[in-house]
Amino acid sequence: MSLSDLYPLARPFLQAMDPERAQSLVFSALRSGLAGGDPGPDDPVLRTRLCGLDLPNPVGLAAGFDKDAEVPDAMLRLGFGFVECGTVTPLPQPGNPRPRLFRVPSAEAVINRFGFNSLGLDAFAARMQARHGRPGIVGANVGKNKEQQDAAADYAAGIRRLAPLAAYLVVNVSSPNTPGLRALQGREPLAALLGRCLEVRRAAGAEPPLFLKVAPDLTEEDKADIAAVALESGIDGLVVSNTTVSRPPEIPASLAQEAGGLSGRPLFTPSTRVLAEFRSLTGGRLPLIGVGGIASGADAYAKIRAGASAVQLYTALSYQGPALVRRIKADLAALLKRDGFASVAEAVGR
Ligand SMILES: Cc1cc2nc3c(=O)[nH]c(=O)nc-3n(C[C@H](O)[C@H](O)[C@H](O)COP(=O)(O)O)c2cc1C
Repeated sequence: MSLSDLYPLARPFLQAMDPERAQSLVFSALRSGLAGGDPGPDDPVLRTRLCGLDLPNPVGLAAGFDKDAEVPDAMLRLGFGFVECGTVTPLPQPGNPRPRLFRVPSAEAVINRFGFNSLGLDAFAARMQARHGRPGIVGANVGKNKEQQDAAADYAAGIRRLAPLAAYLVVNVSSPNTPGLRALQGREPLAALLGRCLEVRRAAGAEPPLFLKVAPDLTEEDKADIAAVALESGIDGLVVSNTTVSRPPEIPASLAQEAGGLSGRPLFTPSTRVLAEFRSLTGGRLPLIGVGGIASGADAYAKIRAGASAVQLYTALSYQGPALVRRIKADLAALLKRDGFASVAEAVGR
């Protein structure tokens, strides 16, 4: 019996529970090996390359599900083409007080204000070290501790430690739940931060691709600045996007007032628009990972057509369960073939 088989039975109970407790239960199941076996090889049309990484399929698990790199191999076994662990902060920190995770079932959305709860870099690196050399693309998303004033020092610590262990790295400056974090997306602070991160990566000896993860709530000027700095700095790509602080009308008023980042279905259209803008601002010269509200093969396909070389999801998994991954891949493969594309790469930005 695997998690995919059990999920439909467990779902009503999980959805009636406090969401963070439900998530811990799913996590315990994954840790105990309930993810099940190998889902079988992917359709060859899904095979793709992202910054030199060979992905069996372009559907990844977004950051925030496995913050402490506890179950990346279990998530790969569910069929994800790659898994992003983190955000990890250098020192352990508890994050914000509970409740800090809110379901919005009517909109298939979630609001979270976890605030980078993390077991810290030592624990994260030890787990990455233990799985090092195993097959599967596992990236690491790095952040800063709440009380750290020298933000760049924290990102540098994460990169120094994880460059030899992670398939790729993500500099996360876009969480709405750490005060002051998103200000790092401004032109000068960003140029300084990325310069430092690349310098540290060079010195680390291992040079995995380095991505910047951006917010969807950016002004036109912000977007132009980020695109210019990203291209000038020499980072390898962008992850577009994190959660939004906006509250579209489909979020009931009682929940809309909760502070935090909104993810899931209502994020699909705005994050895909921002993705297409970054595709155009970077002239297709910078690989993009598209994330935000993906809940179907058609959604994944739309992100790819808007400019994503690969995609990620999180929230839809909590509504639809682990069988979603296989469904998205089958539908995406069918859509690519329907439109005469021989590969994912051919459809990017088309
Ligand atoms: C509960 C929760 C925690 C998250 N934590 C992180 C995080 O630690 N770091 C990060 O970069 N993104 C984090 N995210 C954002 C996701 O990686 C993703 O960008 C966002 O949820 C949009 O994708 P989705 O609509 O498929 O969930 C989190 C999202 C959720 C729902």
